[in-house]
Amino acid sequence: MQLTSIAKTWLNQYIKVGDSVIDATLGNGFDALFLAQAIGETGTLYGFDVQQEAINNTIILLNDEPCQQMFFLQGHEHMMAHIPQDEHGHIQAIMFNLGWLPNSDKSIITHADTTILALEQSLQLLAPNGRISMMLYPGHHGGDSEAAQVTAWLQAKHLHNISFRLEQIRVPQRPKAPILLQIHKENI
Ligand SMILES: C[S@@+](CC[C@H](N)C(=O)[O-])C[C@H]1O[C@@H](n2cnc3c(N)ncnc32)[C@H](O)[C@@H]1O
Repeated sequence: MQLTSIAKTWLNQYIKVGDSVIDATLGNGFDALFLAQAIGETGTLYGFDVQQEAINNTIILLNDEPCQQMFFLQGHEHMMAHIPQDEHGHIQAIMFNLGWLPNSDKSIITHADTTILALEQSLQLLAPNGRISMMLYPGHHGGDSEAAQVTAWLQAKHLHNISFRLEQIRVPQRPKAPILLQIHKENI
């Protein structure tokens, strides 16, 4: 099974109909579609991307999804300012899928500094028992240092109510295989 599917299967255990969730990197909208279907018509989906193309792709793909949808043409490092105040501390799940928009401009990629800012805000926005999944791609230039810096940041923080695990399916032909980071905000 691909790591992106493992991420969805994992999150699907915790997302309930009516939840509020965030897709921090909309891209082609596939993760957003998964989230929209998991939260049903009473849920709310927030989404971020720095490219209008990604917002447009997502709007088209989610056309028939009845949940409330709010998409921002903004970097995820500004998510705190855009998520309504009454949702802070009530977001059940946040998905990140880093890197570039497939079949598009490969120079527009996520960066460690802004990804870490977004992660810091995500941890505050998350509900107790909420989950974050993050797909990291060390195989491309910039993605290697991003993966290293994000994991080092989490390890150094020693956040008392945060547990996390890293999963990587290593194959001999692909030493820098993608990494799935799964974060759990414990209910204490
Ligand atoms: C791998 S794609 C996302 C795939 C997407 N989740 C899907 O299901 O198709 C990565 C996306 O991150 C976006 N991106 C880059 N920097 C960003 C930032 N600071 N904030 C939000 N999105 C960003 C890119 O424009 C690109 O669309």
